[in-house]
Amino acid sequence: MKEIHDFRIIERTEPTANYVRLVLHHGGTMQPIAPGQFVEVRVDGVPEVMLRRPISIHDVDSDAGTLSLLIQVVGHGTRQMSTLKVGDKMNIVYPLGHGFSTDIAAGSQVLLVGGGAGIAPLLYLAKVLQAKGVHPTILLGGRTAALIPTRELFEPCGEVCLATDDGSLGHKGLVVEHPVFAQQWDMIYTCGPTPMMKAVARSAAERGIRCEVSLENMMACGVGACLCCVTDTDDGHRCVCKEGPVFDISTMHKWYENK
Ligand SMILES: Cc1cc2nc3c(=O)[nH]c(=O)nc-3n(C[C@H](O)[C@H](O)[C@H](O)COP(=O)(O)OP(=O)(O)OC[C@H]3O[C@@H](n4cnc5c(N)ncnc54)[C@H](O)[C@@H]3O)c2cc1C
Ligand code: FES
Repeated sequence: MKEIHDFRIIERTEPTANYVRLVLHHGGTMQPIAPGQFVEVRVDGVPEVMLRRPISIHDVDSDAGTLSLLIQVVGHGTRQMSTLKVGDKMNIVYPLGHGFSTDIAAGSQVLLVGGGAGIAPLLYLAKVLQAKGVHPTILLGGRTAALIPTRELFEPCGEVCLATDDGSLGHKGLVVEHPVFAQQWDMIYTCGPTPMMKAVARSAAERGIRCEVSLENMMACGVGACLCCVTDTDDGHRCVCKEGPVFDISTMHKWYENK
């Protein structure tokens, strides 16, 4: 069930330049959250920002009543979020959207591919898969090493492989050029820049690999009312906020074939 709630910030770190990681404490009982779901954050005190901003749920600790967010500062709203301190409140609507499928058999060969802020929803996914007996391989990419935040948090969940455009960390090149990407997988999950996700989806489709993509279209209402976030699918237009953000590529030929 969706809830609007004032969470309290209990931890704030800056994993790399331009990124902030916030751990939020509920103070009561949190709603159940599926990996790939997101929150809509109210941005207080910034006249330019009228609408809530969508941010993926990076991690969840139900026992502790916490969730965490990984925020890349790109504009007015995310800059305000980055100025919040431990002890401040953050008003969020959560959990929103349709997350990743986790009906994966234990021991399956699973690859997670993340780029930039798209790394965010993959951490909780990796933890949920690990709890199901899947040992995922996690392939993270960025233009430079400084643009792959929180990579160390993934290490307990599976094998972490890295790719940077400038070769400052891991394989030099795009994530789809990393040797691990060419292996045969039972399932690939991806979130990141649209060209990266389309390249991942096209390759997965060619190789007959099941694949889910998490889209980050611009959003307004976040609950399927304004239609500003629609994406073209093989089944027609779909609201990314309500019917996504995660889609199975078996319904997304039109989207990934359109470069
Ligand atoms: C489902 C979903 C999950 C997301 N998860 C995360 C996350 O975990 N961490 C994170 O840092 N960001 C995430 N984003 C992107 C985030 O919502 C935007 O960066 C944010 O709304 C920008 O707000 P702003 O007020 O700072 O920027 P604005 O001042 O509104 O815009 C500044 C710049 O950011 C661009 N921008 C605005 N919205 C988006 C968007 N949705 N995608 C790409 N560029 C955008 C604008 O075109 C403009 O160039 C997510 C988006 C969606 C839809
Ligand atoms: S953001 Fe309004 S319908 Fe998706």
